[in-house]
Amino acid sequence: MIVVLLGPPGAGKGTQGEIIAERLGIPKIATGDVLRAAVRDGTEQGLAAKAYMDRGDLVPDSVILGIMKEVLSSPAAAKGAILDGVVRTVPQAEGLTTMLAELGRKVDKFLLFDVPEDELVNRLGGRVVCEKCQTPYKGLEPGTTCEKCGGKLVRRKDDEPQSIRNRLKVYQAQTEPVIEWTKERKMDLVKIDATGDVNEISERAMKALEED
Ligand code: AP5
Repeated sequence: MIVVLLGPPGAGKGTQGEIIAERLGIPKIATGDVLRAAVRDGTEQGLAAKAYMDRGDLVPDSVILGIMKEVLSSPAAAKGAILDGVVRTVPQAEGLTTMLAELGRKVDKFLLFDVPEDELVNRLGGRVVCEKCQTPYKGLEPGTTCEKCGGKLVRRKDDEPQSIRNRLKVYQAQTEPVIEWTKERKMDLVKIDATGDVNEISERAMKALEED
């Protein structure tokens, strides 16, 4: 099963993607995590992506589609994948659809996580993430130890107020049109209320995935 998680920054795609992937027994692939690892490792891809990411702009579609091609043809994704943070533009949606068709596959479901803007700003402003495994936390100080892997918790550069504002604008301008794109093609998109208790949101998402 291929599931695409859509939603603005801070909507909980990473948090829910982790839970859903574990429950379905398939990997979660997050382009943001792949890019942050590339930045950390100082690879050519990371160096090219860093400035876009720090500002809260999107990395070029060609880079993202290159990552997706590699990931989707790997044995780890043979049974399916939860795609977190991709697709974010109409060209990415078109590219992914073509790529999957060539592999005899398709996106089975789009889940759109819905959260009001003031809550998004609040969530991102208080977030720290593990620099090793990328698990997000709220209400903890940078420097605290990650309870999952023992890594150090840090604040993401793009969680500064100016970058948060830009990411929300970029989402409206470049990612929201993907929602219309799926509707025009009568693709299976389900909007999830992504406010409230994390486990209740997971239940809503799992229920949506079980429906035909
Ligand atoms: P990416 O890492 O994908 O960032 P994002 O989309 O901005 O999403 P976030 O990780 O900020 O939020 P999330 O929805 O995963 O929420 P989370 O679970 O962490 O991308 C970063 C950058 O990489 C982009 O800006 C771009 O430059 C580049 N990039 C990546 N993919 C790209 C692509 N396809 N094309 C081009 N460029 C790309 O939760 C947020 C916080 O809220 C956490 O602290 C969490 O603990 C908390 N929280 C979660 N659920 C709840 C809840 N129910 N109640 C209260 N708090 C909650």
